[in-house]
Amino acid sequence: MSTIDYSDKIPNNVNLSEDRTLQRALEHWQPGFLDWWKDMGPDNSRNFDVYLRTAISVDPSGWAQFGYVKMPDYRWGIFLNPADADRKIHFGDHQGEAAWQDVPGEHRANLRRIIVTQGDTEPASVEQQRHLGLTAPSLYDMRNLFQVNVEEGRHLWAMVYLLHRYFGRDGREEAEALLARRSGDADNPRILGAFNEKTPDWLSFFMFTYFTDRDGKFQLAALAESGFDPLARTTKFMLTEEAHHMFVGESGVSRVVQRTCDVMNQLKTDDPAKVRAAGAIDLQTIQRYLNFHFSVTIDLFGADQSSNAAIFYSSGLKGRFDEGKRTDDHKLHGTNYPVLDVVDGRLVEREVPMLNALNEVLRDDYIKDSIAGVNRWNRVIEKAGIPFRLKVPHKAFNRQIGTLAGLRVSPEGKVVSEAEWKAHENEWLPSAEDRAFVASLMGRVVEPGKFAGWIAPPVMGINRHPIDFEYVRFN
Ligand SMILES: [Fe+2]
Ligand SMILES: [Fe+2]
Repeated sequence: MSTIDYSDKIPNNVNLSEDRTLQRALEHWQPGFLDWWKDMGPDNSRNFDVYLRTAISVDPSGWAQFGYVKMPDYRWGIFLNPADADRKIHFGDHQGEAAWQDVPGEHRANLRRIIVTQGDTEPASVEQQRHLGLTAPSLYDMRNLFQVNVEEGRHLWAMVYLLHRYFGRDGREEAEALLARRSGDADNPRILGAFNEKTPDWLSFFMFTYFTDRDGKFQLAALAESGFDPLARTTKFMLTEEAHHMFVGESGVSRVVQRTCDVMNQLKTDDPAKVRAAGAIDLQTIQRYLNFHFSVTIDLFGADQSSNAAIFYSSGLKGRFDEGKRTDDHKLHGTNYPVLDVVDGRLVEREVPMLNALNEVLRDDYIKDSIAGVNRWNRVIEKAGIPFRLKVPHKAFNRQIGTLAGLRVSPEGKVVSEAEWKAHENEWLPSAEDRAFVASLMGRVVEPGKFAGWIAPPVMGINRHPIDFEYVRFN
């Protein structure tokens, strides 16, 4: 592993200083990135000193450094996991061949598309979250938000490095376009649906980091299997940072649930109106937010049947989650996988060639992983002695992509009429009124160790600091 020279403009472990052309291309892109950060990054936060971790190497025993940083001065670096000279492609039609250190001509367009699609999600989420600092429920939470934001910025750098280093002029153009698209913009939106939704309040933020950053985990894990070695090594390191993003989401929702249960027990009530009157978020509203974020996120895996997914796999570009731990032939010809279809108004399973169903395979792995955290939230409710359980909705609920797109299905998985959907929509998805209520609770709390009334304090602080540590200093 090469050491990082902090006098470099761009901290890196890819020997950037030895590749003048590449270094210049990135230095040329950097001011555009900083302009984008100024326009679209965290709102009104430029002078804050934020207690952040910064990636300084890929050494598992000490890859990050903590300290106060003004966000525009954050050192967005480029880090790849160490290379394994003997690495082989371990799935698809090229199985057993040496992993590619360069982009094979015939896979160039597909690889570029994969990298651009991943890269586009990173700045998108920063844009979606840019106003949340103004309503942070504590300094601890504000710091966690900014930590996620700067690391999504670094993930953009990671993808832009690959575009500049391996895709020449096309890559440079794509890197510019990544700074030009805007989440939710009518004319030039981000590529994927969930990344054009608003993240208007902190319950949405916690649901987003729990569910949507977890989509990131699964996409990155599938790309970490790639036969294109630089992509595999880059995404492996990104996964290290992603774990904290999902922690922010899981612990965030858990703390909201905890606070709600405390209020319910203090008031001895299960009436949502009374819970709301006491300034907490009723469990029913939390369930509706969960339904929304879960359904919007599972659409990100794409159509249930996709010839592109088959091509990406067979070509060795994108593997399955935990590809290396699976014991089948890693080629998958002649094997089937069940996908959902509607026959006579009922959902039925239908076997299709697995290669075409690899989006569905990844989605199902994701769903299993998501449920585990929801069960941990339920343990909080159970401990409080409250007979309510959160549940992920049925896979067919509220889908916009693939065979199930536009179909009216209840959270329990029953196909319903348009009239039934309309009658229950406000029980199943957050209503404008729910969102207005949650918004009404949002207000910035900046005294160290104090928390807004709708969320419990965390169990512990960051990097062994106490909960009342001054995680953000205002100037
Ligand atoms: Fe990311
Ligand atoms: Fe993330």
